Amino acid sequence: MAVTAHFPDYISVGPGTPTGTFLRKFWQPVYESARLGAGRAVPLRIMGEDFTLYRGQSRKAFVVDSRCAHRGALLSIGRVEGDTLACLYHGWTYDGSGQCIAQPPEKRSFASTVRIRSYPAQEYLGFVFAYLGEGEPPHFPRILAAEGDGLLEVRESRRPYPFFSQLENSVDEVHFNFTHRQSTFSDVGLNDEIPEIDCKETEYGLIRYGKRTEATRVSHILMPNCLYSKVHDELLGWTEHLSWRVPIDDCTHSSFVAKKSSLVGEGIEEYQKKKEEARALLATLESSDKVADRVLRGELHIDDLPHRPDLVMIQDLVVLRSQGPRPAREKDQLGASDKQIRLLRQMFTRELVAQTENRSMKQWRVPPGLTTSTGLED
Ligand code: FES
Ligand SMILES: [Fe+2]
Repeated sequence: MAVTAHFPDYISVGPGTPTGTFLRKFWQPVYESARLGAGRAVPLRIMGEDFTLYRGQSRKAFVVDSRCAHRGALLSIGRVEGDTLACLYHGWTYDGSGQCIAQPPEKRSFASTVRIRSYPAQEYLGFVFAYLGEGEPPHFPRILAAEGDGLLEVRESRRPYPFFSQLENSVDEVHFNFTHRQSTFSDVGLNDEIPEIDCKETEYGLIRYGKRTEATRVSHILMPNCLYSKVHDELLGWTEHLSWRVPIDDCTHSSFVAKKSSLVGEGIEEYQKKKEEARALLATLESSDKVADRVLRGELHIDDLPHRPDLVMIQDLVVLRSQGPRPAREKDQLGASDKQIRLLRQMFTRELVAQTENRSMKQWRVPPGLTTSTGLED
């Protein structure tokens, strides 16, 4: 778990680990807003820790500890009453700040002395975000290009490999021509040539350039774990795409994706119909996980898969799972085309070392007017 000057442990994210402590210094998406109705509570597992998320009758979302202070029942199975949460076992009731406010079976209540931990929460771009670190949360980053008119779609997908593998994949544009050789990437000009990679550190994280003869694709990493890029959708064309890679534990993570297109009015209805058809088609196909299992067992080659709406995701799933549950990053032999991987690791390493040595760390700032470009439609 130690951070060495050369190679930190990017994979362990539990409480007290260097990478886990670093990730907890930022707002993280934890749940899709639309899936959390008023009066509902759900369990969350993030970075190896358990929490309870609930939405009060006022529609405000709260994040508190997973267990009741009395005898440890899970609070996610409790009852939401107003904006409070009552434990299902003996009715101890907590407000959104974690303060116990009622102990119905106790003739002499000592509720005022009982408190569970609560965490700041707010909603943005279709997700509940929480701040799970110590002290005051940082300024909440906004991306204006993903707000306002147009269709916003969000989804959470669970992935069975470490968040850092996915984060590195997020900055790696070179793999398109190999992993996604047979995909819609070819239809939109992303695979015509292997891009020349450039990147630099910025006030918010990292800007990366994928230079091709005709165009340069510009994307960003918002530190520590969010990719902001333009992604092509078969039905929507180019979309603003934000993907946060949030660890569930060391070896699995959730990708929280917010996708914004300029579609409005009747176009949305038509799109949703086509999307429903694509969903219905997917439901008839073997699941992406099972397909990936078969490819990894050598029973199928990824190029033999017929086109399907989730093909790009399966291609990534296969290569990233193939790196193993705890990839030995110190053995990697990086080349010039890995410039962005090297920079990302250097930034993480520098911050983790500063954190371990109690030195001041960089204060990241996302300019709300940040934009992306494919260069391709210009
Ligand atoms: S365990 Fe929660 S009230 Fe008893
Ligand atoms: Fe990919």
